[in-house]
Amino acid sequence: MEPLGDWRRTHWLGELRPHHVGEETVLMGWVKSRRDHGGVVFCDLRDRTGVAQVVFDPASSPESHEKVKQVRTEWVLAVKGRVRRRGEGLENPNLATGEIEVLTHEVKVLNRSDTPPFPIEDETEASDQVRLTHRHLDLRRPKMYRNLYLRHRAAHFVRSFLASEGFLDLETPFLTLSTPEGARDYLVPSRMNPGRFYALPQSPQIFKQLFMISGFERYFQVVRCFRDEDLRADRQPEFTQIDLEMSFAGEEDVMSLTERLIAGLFQEVLGAKVDLPIPRLTFDHAMDTYGTDSPDVGFGLEIRDLTDIAAKTKLKVFSQAAGSGGRVKGIAAPGSDLTRSQLDGLVGFAQDEGAKGLAWVRLGPDGWKSPIAKFFSDEEKGAIEEALNANQGDTLFFVADTRATANHVLGKVRLRLKELLGIEPEARFNFVWLHRFPLMEYDPDEKRFVALHHPFTAPLEEDEELLDDAPERVRSRAYDLVLNGTEIGGGSIRIHRREMQTRVFKALGLPDEEVRERFGFFLDALDQGAPPHGGIALGFDRLVALMVGADSIREVIPFPKTQRATCLLTGAPAEVDLEQLLELGLKLDL
Ligand code: AMO
Ligand code: AMP
Repeated sequence: MEPLGDWRRTHWLGELRPHHVGEETVLMGWVKSRRDHGGVVFCDLRDRTGVAQVVFDPASSPESHEKVKQVRTEWVLAVKGRVRRRGEGLENPNLATGEIEVLTHEVKVLNRSDTPPFPIEDETEASDQVRLTHRHLDLRRPKMYRNLYLRHRAAHFVRSFLASEGFLDLETPFLTLSTPEGARDYLVPSRMNPGRFYALPQSPQIFKQLFMISGFERYFQVVRCFRDEDLRADRQPEFTQIDLEMSFAGEEDVMSLTERLIAGLFQEVLGAKVDLPIPRLTFDHAMDTYGTDSPDVGFGLEIRDLTDIAAKTKLKVFSQAAGSGGRVKGIAAPGSDLTRSQLDGLVGFAQDEGAKGLAWVRLGPDGWKSPIAKFFSDEEKGAIEEALNANQGDTLFFVADTRATANHVLGKVRLRLKELLGIEPEARFNFVWLHRFPLMEYDPDEKRFVALHHPFTAPLEEDEELLDDAPERVRSRAYDLVLNGTEIGGGSIRIHRREMQTRVFKALGLPDEEVRERFGFFLDALDQGAPPHGGIALGFDRLVALMVGADSIREVIPFPKTQRATCLLTGAPAEVDLEQLLELGLKLDL
C-alpha cells in the first residue's frame, strides 16, 4: 500500500471525453473490474461521477503493469496517465466515457479491499438485509449515489428558493416536550432531572408557531422529525420535512407558495414541468370519487354513486342497502379480459377490505354477462351504464354497503385494477390538493374525537358554530398535497386566539388540567399578540422517492432503519450498561 503523497485528482473519471485526448491526468477511484488480456491489463475505474477504462501496458510502463496484477475489485487506486482515443471498433457505446481510455504511466495502490458481499452495480440481487448491513457499500452503487445526489440538489434548491422568498432558516429543539402529531413519542431520559423525559419532536409545529408570535413572519427548516409508529415503505421513525410557516397568511398564500416551490423544484432538478395551479378536491369529493384522502388522480376509473338506480332493482343486496341509508357504488374498468379467476380474486380482495361482496358485470356485445344480470331491467341496465360512463367491453364492479365501506373498498379495487390491467397514468407526476377536511373524527378506541391534522388547525369560519354540538361536522382550514396517490405534505391555517384554541381542546375531550400542563405556555403565548398564521410541511423523503421513481423512501435515505426500527449497520438500538441506567435513575423491568 502506498501513501497518497502530493498526488491530487485532475479529472473526474465519468467526465472524460474525446476532447481530453492527449491530456495528462491524475485519477482516483475504485476498481470496478480488471481484465488481463495476456500482456495488457484493463481496469474499469469508478468514482462518484462514473467509470473510465484505464490501460496498463507493459510496453509503456512495466512497473505499473506489474503492480496492477495483484489488484482486485474495489481496491483503491491513484493513476497518472494520458487520455487517448480507443482503437477503431473498440468503443463502448454504453459508457459515457466509452470513446476514450487512459494509458497509465504510474499507479499507486492506496488501499486493498475485501471481496464485497455483493457486486457494486446498479442491478443487485442482494437482499435488503445484506444491503443495509453493508450500507456504505450499498451507497457505493452508482444508483444510490444518483438518488442521494438528487436529494442534495433538491434540498439545495428548496433552501435557496425559500430564502429568496424571505423565509428564515431557523433551528428548533430536538430535546423538547411532546408535540401532538398523532404518533407515539420517542423519549429521552434526563440525567439532570431523574424521572423526567424529553420527547423528540414529531414535528416543529409548536415552535414554528411561536416564531410567528415572535414576529419572525416567515420561517423554514429542512428538519428531522421523530415518530414511533408502525413502519411501511413510505414511513421511517426519523424522516425529514421541509417545514414552513408564514404570518398574515390565508390558505391561498400557503398553497400558492407551495405550488411555486414544487414547480421550481421539479423544473430545476428533473427538467419536468408541473402545471399550475394544482387542482383541488374537497375531502368529501375525494372520498366519494376515489375512496381515499390520498387519491391517485392520474387515471380514470372514478367511483360513481348508483344508489338511486339500485334502490328500485330486484337485487336484494342493492335495494336493501339503498333502503337502509347505505349506498350502492360502482366503477367501470376498460377491457373485459379479466379471467374468471381474476374476478374471483377481486371478490376475495374486496371482502378482505371489508365488503360483504363485490358484484361484477361484463359488458359483452350481447349485453350484460353476470350472475346478477337477471335482476335488472333493460332500463336499469342502461341507467347504470350511463352513470358509469361504461362502454362495450368494460367490466363493471359494484359494492352495496355503508358509504364509508363502499368508498373504501372501491378505492382499493380501483388501485388493484390499475395493476391488473396495466393502466398507465396520464402523466408522470399527478399532483392534487385536498382541502376542507373534517376538523376531527371520532376514535372508537379512545372514545373521543381526535384531530385529523393536529389540534392547532383552525376550523372553517362558517362551521365554527357547530363546534360545541356537532364537532364531527366542522370542516377545517387544512390542506394536503398528494402526488401519485402518496400524501407528500400537509398543513393548515392555525388557530391564533386563545378562546378558539381552548374550545377545540375541549371538543377534543382534553381535560382542562392536561391542557394547562401540556399547552399552558402555548395558550399564554396566543394571548400575547399572536398574528394570524399558517404553514405546511412537505415529506422530503417521500417527495424525493417519487422524483427518482423509488418504491420505498429507504432508497433515498442514506442510513435508514428496518421495518423493526433497527439500524443493521450499527446495531442500534442496543442494550446499555446498568451504570448508565442508574445514572439516569432508570431500572429495567422486562
Ligand atoms: P404531517 O404529520 O402531515 O404534518 O407531516 C407532514 C408530511 O410528512 C410526511 N411524513 C412522513 N414521512 C416519512 N415517514 C414518516 N413516518 C412520516 N410521517 C409524516 C408526510 C406528511 O405529509 N406539523 C404538521 C405540518 C403543518 O401543519 O404545518 C405535520 O407534521 O409526507
Ligand atoms: P348473493 O345474493 O349473496 O349470492 O350475491 C350475489 C352477488 O352479489 C355475488 O356476486 C356477490 O359477490 C354480490 N354481493 C353480495 N353482497 C354484496 C354487496 N354488499 N355489494 C356488492 N355485491 C354484493
